[in-house]
This record gives sequence, structure tokens and C-alpha cells, in this order.
Amino acid sequence: MTSHSDIWRRLEQHRDECRRGHFRDWFRADPQRFERFSRRIDDLLVDYSKHLVTDETFVLLGELARDRGVEALRDRMFAGERINTTEDRPVLHIALRNRSERPIAVDGHDVMLDVRRALEHMRTFSEAVRSGEWIGFSGHRITDVVNIGIGGSDLGPAMVTEALTPYTREGPRLHFVSNVDGTHLSETLRALDPATTLFTIASKTFTAEKPLPRGDESHVARHFVAISTNTREVRAFGIAPDNMFVFWDWVGGRYSLWSSIGLPIAIAAGFNRFEQLLEGAFDVDEHFRSAPLEDNIPITLGLLGVWCTDFLGAETQAVLPYDQYLRRFPAYLQQLDMESNGKRVDREGRQVAVATGPVVWGEPGTNGQHAFYQLIHQGTRLVPCDFLIAATPHEPLGDHHELLIANCLAQSEALAMGKTNDEARAELAAQGLDPDRSARLVPHKVFPGNRPSTTFMYRQLDPRTLGRLIALYEHKVFVMGAVWNINSFDQWGVELGKQLAKRIRPEIDATGSATAHDASTNGLLNYVRQLRS
Ligand code: F6P
Repeated sequence: MTSHSDIWRRLEQHRDECRRGHFRDWFRADPQRFERFSRRIDDLLVDYSKHLVTDETFVLLGELARDRGVEALRDRMFAGERINTTEDRPVLHIALRNRSERPIAVDGHDVMLDVRRALEHMRTFSEAVRSGEWIGFSGHRITDVVNIGIGGSDLGPAMVTEALTPYTREGPRLHFVSNVDGTHLSETLRALDPATTLFTIASKTFTAEKPLPRGDESHVARHFVAISTNTREVRAFGIAPDNMFVFWDWVGGRYSLWSSIGLPIAIAAGFNRFEQLLEGAFDVDEHFRSAPLEDNIPITLGLLGVWCTDFLGAETQAVLPYDQYLRRFPAYLQQLDMESNGKRVDREGRQVAVATGPVVWGEPGTNGQHAFYQLIHQGTRLVPCDFLIAATPHEPLGDHHELLIANCLAQSEALAMGKTNDEARAELAAQGLDPDRSARLVPHKVFPGNRPSTTFMYRQLDPRTLGRLIALYEHKVFVMGAVWNINSFDQWGVELGKQLAKRIRPEIDATGSATAHDASTNGLLNYVRQLRS
């Protein structure tokens, strides 16, 4: 079992040593700590020197990675092997952004041929919509695009489209409808004109019910396109094959924004920008494939994730972009991480003996600072934080961006260094507080520090940088799953709720008293019927 291996035990012993250390001493003793514990891909810097680690930690974590065969699993992914064992599929989102000539074979077929064809389809269509060549039923150009999709068919394109807002000014306006709650669609459509609106219906499986308006088929053809792996269902649904954008079952939903699922991104920002996004991800793929373990950023991030989760006891991971355009990044990472690594059995179906994927959450800084950072600084829980910040803003406004940078750096410094008893006391004395009152206040003013964080810093949030950031997180999640020996690529945990909802749906309209469930569910059904009657 995972926790009982020799390397795991040695890491536990080492953890106790680390806990006795403090960032103040580590940084004082080692002026090179930042240089040694940070890495770059081009201008994208990843600083992990504010983690509770020493050189020894990395030696041991490296040993753990080798022991768990992280690099071997990575190589099997890139080779197109069926590493998603429970669904018997390869895991090839990396093929979608393979910008090299390297073929990637699945059952002897080079999938790069299909990928290139699908990209060409996206290019032609997105350019036609953007140029106005594609017109609606009444002859007007498309001004608004509504993407209807959920999970990976929503979060990736929605997050990226918003993150690339400065690049979308010339394209149609994008809207994302994901919630089964009809108000989401109604509120979105309220302000839109059907004559100038295009719908992209995005669903990997195309199994959910998506009622299409009935009417003139040529109108439907001008206003509805589908993005799916399920050609049969799309056809049955009434969407013409020419209006279907394909991808394949070896692309997981939460890894699909690089596929045709990214069509809304290409329409909003332009296909060239979409390609830059792919190039950014490719930069990271090449790095992940080839950088030695000690310099491999996603491997390091993954190992630090395991270190925080299993050895330091962190239950959550905060994602704190100091960037309004990355507002949806935490939500996107929630699916990526929690649907991938929220598993409790390993690849062989045995109970995993250690904690797996953390709860991922977050909000843009500085909003979070005035809401929940209190707990991160002075609460009883350890919350590792990821800070993201660009050197240059897209919308310079006075010294807002300088203030933003200052806040971002101040937070990671405060978390790491804290404020000691002596410092708190001196501060209060300088304010003229009498010793009695000061003594009472000091415990409240002390910050223990030693709270870990990673900082991602880059020149500007452009498509390539965004592609790099997303791919870094994808591979980090991969590495953590590999260490835990879990299958990060299935999501059986979402099935039971779907099955039960199908069963409950007709019961809402039924009469009489519900008896088929547990007392709580029966009671709730009866009460909702009563409220609706
Ligand atoms: O939540 C489960 C899930 O299968 C996700 O993995 C996926 O992104 C989402 O549902 C949407 O599914 P589909 O694209 O098939 O409609």
C-alpha cells in the first residue's frame, strides 16, 4: 500500500524535520533559495521557494516519483497507450496541440491526420463567422454566439474566452449557457436576436436532452452547429454533418478545450490566437516530456502537491489569480483537478491508503484578501496557495497594476514570513499602546507564517502564456494521480447522481405519497409536490 513503502516512511520522518524549520531561517541561511527553487519556461516563472521544503525534500520526492513510475506513465501517455484503463482509452489531449511532425498512433492509425483535419474545419468556420461570410437565415452576420455545454464542454472554453477578452474585441460576443436551470438560457437569450445568434451545442457524448427549436431546416443549419464525438446522436438530433465539429473518445471532457470544443474560443479571438494557445500548451508538453526530473516544472508541482496533501495535511488548494481576466480559472481547475484525482481506489481497485486530490477553490486576488485570506493567514488549517500575476496589464489604469503586483507579492511574503510576537509587540508599542492592552492584543496580531505558496509570474496574459499555464496544471494533476496510482482520466463518481435523477424526474409529477426512497428523500419529494400543487 502506498503509505507503507520505504520512501513514504522516509518522507514522513523528513516532514517532521521540515516542520521544525521556518522560512525566515531558510531564506536567511540560503540567499540562493529563490534561484534554486524556481524554474522558467521562456518568460513564465514558477517560484516554489516558498514551500516547506529543503534540498533533501526534493531528493526524497524525486525518489518517490521514480518509485511510482511517474516518468514511465508519462511516456506511455505520449505514446498513445490506453492508460485510461477503466474506459479502455488512450489519453491524448497532448495530440491536439502537437505542433511537431511527430505522428501519434492509436491502433496503428496516426491520429494527427484527424487532428489536423478538425483544426482546418475550425479555422474555416471560425473565419467565416468572424468575417461575416457566414450569415444567418435573414442574411445578417452573426453578432452573438451561445455555447450550450456543461463540465468540460463549458468550463474550458468559457474560462479561456474570458481570459482572452482583450483579443476578442473584433469577434462576435460569446455567451456560455451551462446550467440545467432554465433561467440560465432564458436570461442569456433575453437580450439576443435570433437572426444574428449562432448556437454551438457542445457535448462530448451528446446524451443529455437538448431540445432544438422545430422549424425551417435551413434556418437550423445557419444557426446551430454541434461539437461532439457522437456523430450518430448529432445526426439523429437534426444537425447536418457539415455543421458538426468532431473530436474523439481519447480526449477527456476536462481536457477538451484544445479540441473542437475550443471552437467558441476560435470564433471569439480568432483561429490564430487559438493556435497560439495550442503552441503554449505544446511548449509545456515538450518540457514535460523531456526535462530531467529535477528541472521538470509539472513534475515538481505535482510532487509538491503530494507533499502538501499527504505529508503536511493540507486538505485544500487555493488558486488566487491576481488577474480579473482569470476570474474563472479556479472554477476551471476545480473540474480539472477534482474530477481527475477525486478517487479513493487505485488502478487495481484497491482502497488508496492516503489522502488523494485536494479540494480546489479560489477567487481573484485582491477580492479574496478581503473575504477569506484571514483564515489562510491565521486560521488553524494549512492552505497552500497558488498566486498568478502578469508583469504588464492589458488595461493600464493609473497605478492599479503596480498595486496589484504589490498586493500579490505582499500576500505570499506575509504567508511565508508571518509576524512574530516581538514584532507585534514593537508595533503596538510604537502606536503608544499601554503594556497591558498590548499584551492582550499581541496573540491576535501574530502571524505564524510558514504557509506555503507557489507564484506564477509572466510578462502578460497572452494566448501562449495561457496555454502554458493550463498545460502546467494538467500535467501537475497527471503527476499527482501517477504518484497515487489512481486513474485520473475517468469520472465514475458523477454517474450515480445522474441515474437517480432520471428515476426521480417522473416522481415529481406523480400523485400520492412517495415511498420508494429513504425517509428523507420521500419526505422531500412529498413536500415539493405539496409546494407545487
Ligand atoms: O461531469 C461528467 C462529465 O462527463 C465531464 O467529464 C464532462 O466534461 C461533462 O460531464 C460534460 O459531458 P458531455 O460533454 O458529454 O455533455
